[in-house]
Amino acid sequence: MRIAVLTGGGDCPGLNAAIRAIVKRGTTEHGHSIIGFRDGWRGFLDGDSVPLDRNDVRGTLVLGGTMLGTARCHPHEEPGGLERVQEIVEGEKLDAIICIGGDGTLNAASKVGETGVPVIGIPKTIDNDVAGTDVSIGFDTAMMIATEAIDRLHSTAESHNRVMVVEVMGRHCGWIAVCAGIASGADIILAPEEPFDIDKISKSIQRRHHRQQGFSIVTVAEGATPAKGTSWDSEGTHNDKGNPIAGEMGAHVTRAIEARTGFETRLTVLGYVQRGGTPTPRDRFLATRMGVAAIDAATEGVTQKFAALRGEKIKMVDLKEAAGKSQRVPKDILDVVRGL
Ligand code: F6P
Repeated sequence: MRIAVLTGGGDCPGLNAAIRAIVKRGTTEHGHSIIGFRDGWRGFLDGDSVPLDRNDVRGTLVLGGTMLGTARCHPHEEPGGLERVQEIVEGEKLDAIICIGGDGTLNAASKVGETGVPVIGIPKTIDNDVAGTDVSIGFDTAMMIATEAIDRLHSTAESHNRVMVVEVMGRHCGWIAVCAGIASGADIILAPEEPFDIDKISKSIQRRHHRQQGFSIVTVAEGATPAKGTSWDSEGTHNDKGNPIAGEMGAHVTRAIEARTGFETRLTVLGYVQRGGTPTPRDRFLATRMGVAAIDAATEGVTQKFAALRGEKIKMVDLKEAAGKSQRVPKDILDVVRGL
């Protein structure tokens, strides 16, 4: 068989581990030809392909980013995009396409699959918001990076009796803010799942500082949302597409806390650091398992499914479960923070 592989959307650590598994399992175990397409669906539409064999993936397990490059592009949103996919499938004599991506890329794969082209998905995003899988590739590494950074901020916060605000990534869901916040003992965690009242937060910080804990750590997801009707100026935190502008939510929260408490309040925006560098062992393990499951499923003629982690098992589930949906942080995890 001739199997295509592409990586779409934001990059993350672990993508190369998944590509490596697809290539090694596909060529050695199944005797397939694996054809990589550069820069996600954009490269696919441009026919920008590169054959991949074991030599091409040697040493890539530990590398961050994606050796194929990536882009934010969806064929069904491009004029004639789905027809162009068919042309490339026929021209390259492809038997299936494996798409590694977040909800947007997987939704695009589902639309391509509806035209009859066999597609298989693998979920990745540091935001961990792909519905249908317990964890996506990249989240464990981002959580480790954010936790390590917040741990370090404790010492400078304590030395200066300051409030340290740490903005982390998370457009629509607060997995990194909540999980890294819990893991690093943050005092306040602001996530999109729980709209916040800046006045209540400021009073809570004042109580903490008057109890001699003269410093506070506040983790803020870039997509955190103020509760309606609270005294908040959210002007300028989002762009015209409705996506958060990196650093803006953190800056607004920092200014608001300092104005209300009078305490020195400083901002750290972790930004793209959370998406860089070598994947953790857990992400390498997850990505390898998902890559193997995906190429095995493609070999069996499975289509319109993606490799999902359910508990400790990898299961092939309908792409529709992920397409255009978000996995928000559930209440039982949000409740862990209460009282800590
Ligand atoms: O991949 C998810 C993500 O990292 C979000 O957390 C972040 O808001 C977004 O991508 C940034 O997108 P871009 O890399 O296109 O600036």
